[in-house]
Amino acid sequence: MSDLAIGVFDSGVGGLTAVKELNNILPNENIIYFGDTARLPYGSRSKDTILRFAKEDIDFLRQHGIKMIIAACGTVSSIINTMTLIEDIPFTGVLLPAVQAACSSTLNGKIGVIGTQATIKSGSYGRAIKTIRPNSFVLGKACPLFVPLVENGYTDRENKIAKMVAEEYLEPLKKEDIDTLILGCTHYPLLKDIISDIMGDDVTLISSGEEAAKFTQLSLLEQNLLNTSDKLGENIFYVSDSVEMFEENARKFLNDDVKGNVFKVDINC
Ligand code: DGL
Repeated sequence: MSDLAIGVFDSGVGGLTAVKELNNILPNENIIYFGDTARLPYGSRSKDTILRFAKEDIDFLRQHGIKMIIAACGTVSSIINTMTLIEDIPFTGVLLPAVQAACSSTLNGKIGVIGTQATIKSGSYGRAIKTIRPNSFVLGKACPLFVPLVENGYTDRENKIAKMVAEEYLEPLKKEDIDTLILGCTHYPLLKDIISDIMGDDVTLISSGEEAAKFTQLSLLEQNLLNTSDKLGENIFYVSDSVEMFEENARKFLNDDVKGNVFKVDINC
């Protein structure tokens, strides 16, 4: 057993999709979150820059004595071989957990993947899916406007602008009769209602952040690192830009007032 925290990072609020599920399935775990909001978005950057940011994010989390790290960022997970970034403590990205869930869920073998430009350009989700289900059909679509919509709180089901953007992006996926859609960027589950209204009830949406949280539970269990205390765990959040903006988004999404638990830090901006 270990009462050290689980470290989670993303470019912004997207990684909260992993935190929400961690709070749900592992309520006694302490979580240290880093949202690199000053350098968001990651998804339109070069591989070298994303690698540098990811290393700095990991170094920052390590200063807090954590027992496992989740790269709760689809972009980092798909363009970098995250396994090589950390060798001494357990680690997961969001890609493999999401791909495994999608491959188990699909009935017709037609899987859609939406993510940032860097994620879709990398082709990593498609390659990983084909390793597990070689005969599947995979269609990827970059949705670059989704991240700014989420970071600015444009997430309500009835939000006209978010609906219009989503309709445009999802049109090609609707035409291909996919039955499973991977939300390959951790920000996208915050638009789940809108995406699900457009895709219809027959399409299963896979949240990459949520799947990474479930993988983390298994990983900690296997390595005997779960926190067995009966005290409720604590979430501490660090951001590299506005505390207020993050608090607002986090409150909406986690249904929890995070005020007092969010701190601003500078990490080589
Ligand atoms: N949440 C991130 C992802 O999963 C990053 C979005 C971005 O910074 O572009 O890809």
